[in-house]
Amino acid sequence: MKQTALISPIEDIISLQSEFLNSKSIDDRKVFGQFFTGAIVSDYMASLINKPKSKTVRILDAGAGTGILTASTALRCLDLGCKTVHTVLYELDSGAVPNLEQTLKIVQNTFSQQRGTFTFEIHCEDFVLARPDKDESIQAFDVSVINPPYFKYSAKDSPYAKAAADLYHGDPNIYASFLAVVMACMKDRGQMVSITPRSFTNGLYFKGFRSYLLTESALDLIHIFKHRDKVFKNDDSAVLQENVICRFVKGQSKEAVTVRSSDCDASINHADQEQYPLELIIDPSNDQRIIRIPESAYEASILRQAETFPTTFEGAGYFISTGRVVEHRTRQYITEDTNAHNSVPLYRPHNVTPLTTTWTGDHKKEVSFMLNEGHEKHTMENGTFVLLKRFSSKDEKRRLVSGVHLANAHDCEVIGFGNKTNYIGLSGGKLTIAEAYGLAAIFNSSFMDKYFRCISGNTQVNATEIRVMKFPTREQVKEIGKQAQKLKANETSEIDLIVNPVLGVMDTIQ
Ligand SMILES: C[S@@+](CC[C@H](N)C(=O)[O-])C[C@H]1O[C@@H](n2cnc3c(N)ncnc32)[C@H](O)[C@@H]1O
Repeated sequence: MKQTALISPIEDIISLQSEFLNSKSIDDRKVFGQFFTGAIVSDYMASLINKPKSKTVRILDAGAGTGILTASTALRCLDLGCKTVHTVLYELDSGAVPNLEQTLKIVQNTFSQQRGTFTFEIHCEDFVLARPDKDESIQAFDVSVINPPYFKYSAKDSPYAKAAADLYHGDPNIYASFLAVVMACMKDRGQMVSITPRSFTNGLYFKGFRSYLLTESALDLIHIFKHRDKVFKNDDSAVLQENVICRFVKGQSKEAVTVRSSDCDASINHADQEQYPLELIIDPSNDQRIIRIPESAYEASILRQAETFPTTFEGAGYFISTGRVVEHRTRQYITEDTNAHNSVPLYRPHNVTPLTTTWTGDHKKEVSFMLNEGHEKHTMENGTFVLLKRFSSKDEKRRLVSGVHLANAHDCEVIGFGNKTNYIGLSGGKLTIAEAYGLAAIFNSSFMDKYFRCISGNTQVNATEIRVMKFPTREQVKEIGKQAQKLKANETSEIDLIVNPVLGVMDTIQ
């Protein structure tokens, strides 16, 4: 990346950014979702732009803040030889506008010094509600490099709920609305580079959004940060999102996707880089359009091996559902008296350990579910199932933890499974004990855990992702189960030695 022309203006621009941030409280910043981009990330994102063909390059900055991304992008265009640049910027917080204007004047000066022309128009209004793509007086854009605000809104009451409903349906998160509207504003071959949470790359809630984005454009580059470092300048949050930078090119289809990974520091410019066929990144065999991100060549080898499995979890004949008991809605049924008359065990995540589940009624976290009137909506027929935890903590090494629940573990006809666990069974049939152990062993294997990490960046294990995961046949599951059933509680480290040979996979570096 050429830095020489950029150094001094960017320093002044960063001072303007810091001045603005220091003038606001953390709470005020949160209202607007103000996590500002630092110079290294901003210049890096701009460096991903290829030279636009238009005589006057039109840049869109949605949620401009104090303008760092526009500055880097315009200067990148200048470096590429584009002498005439016009930028349209949207910023809702009027308090940011004076510093934004100053930033743009600095950029203007740099252009003048190099006999270029930089013009801009600032819209101090709500980008999503304004819908510039529908405003005939605003022409389409060549380039947009954005760091949209991030917060959830109410799907019922928020004005944003319907604002982009003509583009996609799904997750009520402002960042998705921003990306969708920006994409709608782009010219054919227009380039959008975004930095966002990774959350949109999987999950049912973002399915409609992914479908819109990936139909409208080609995703040809993903940059993932190896650690959840401080990506944003003023990020004081204790729980950090995993963030990704993506490049989308409108109206195009590409055969390959470049995946880069680095820490979020100067090493960003020397990231590890691999190119993968599109179908390895976006599985074409289902309509989820999950964006799978192998962070290394090693993870890609896991993904490739998983692709050779003969079927999918659902295709093999299994089902997975979220446990039915939502505790905060069924308080009247839940009792800490685990010996209470007419009650059954309620399984919570702590009852699930690798390969086994245990509910003795003695543990202080254990509760029972009273079979009072109406319990049928929440309980289910007791049987042999595999429980798979829905959440792992950030410190936990493993994402997938599953154990077998045996029908005869308790003398009861119905059973309670909490909604923080998933339960797995055989569609239209009953799991044998061996098959249940086979499933639990597969989910507890290192291979499956690594495969799952390519699919999902968060600690939540959603049934939708499991359903479409590539999976061995039932015969293989049973074969694994026969062996895994014999393992003792302290022998779970042996699971890989049973699973890998039957599946024909290696989870170590080849
Ligand atoms: C994550 S910050 C990024 C700021 C800047 N682009 C950067 O990268 O440093 C998002 C910006 O969007 C602004 N914003 C929030 N909601 C907005 C909306 N509905 N319309 C326009 N701007 C909005 C915030 O005030 C904030 O400046």
